[in-house]
Amino acid sequence: MPIKAFLFDLDGVIVDTAIYHYQAWKRLANELGFDISEEFNEQLKGVSRTDSLAIILAHGNLTLPDEEKTRLATQKNEWYLELVSRMTSDDILPGVPAFFSQVRQLGLLTALGSVSKNAPLILERIGMSNVFDAIIDGNKISKGKPDPEVFTKGAAELGVQPAECVVFEDAVAGVEAGKRGGMFVVGLGSPDVLTQADFVRPSLEAFTVEELLSQIEIDAKAV
Ligand code: BG6
Ligand code: MG
Repeated sequence: MPIKAFLFDLDGVIVDTAIYHYQAWKRLANELGFDISEEFNEQLKGVSRTDSLAIILAHGNLTLPDEEKTRLATQKNEWYLELVSRMTSDDILPGVPAFFSQVRQLGLLTALGSVSKNAPLILERIGMSNVFDAIIDGNKISKGKPDPEVFTKGAAELGVQPAECVVFEDAVAGVEAGKRGGMFVVGLGSPDVLTQADFVRPSLEAFTVEELLSQIEIDAKAV
């Protein structure tokens, strides 16, 4: 099936907010009396706010009542919002604007597939609210990554089949979501971390859309 649509994760793919999520969670863990490393943070990437908190509390061997968990998640989000409040279009990751102009020239459809409830705010801050043909964010889904819902909803909203979509992801959970959704997945990061991805490059700067599409064709013929 020819590729018709590209579905993009937000944090760590379009904009470098992954670092701010990490800083805010680290601050929360430190206040609770333990630390989280960058390596530990890989399992939080792409995972919803509530699920991330559950992973962190388990790491610190803490069991807390629901009201306390709600308070902690709200606190983390306040710190995160402080960190992102000064973001502008200068914070768009290198290679994104050039990649999107190739995507437009080829007439491919685009969707955002992010589990972040802050996605609309971030898109507004970086001036990308009107770039996507469909936006699926944390306010529109009931299951976070690695469940494929965020991507299958994106494909449905664009009116395309999963096999006609390419997902762009920086997170282990997001790569899994794309694969479970039946899509070709481009991992942006390290091949040692994003082991389930079909094609891995350090960033959107490292390849062209044409190069990717010919690789997908070669892979399809090899099956
Ligand atoms: C994902 C991030 O995009 O959104 C995760 O990779 C984050 O780190 C998740 O936990 C939820 O985001 P938010 O903004 O709703 O807390
Ligand atoms: Mg991400």
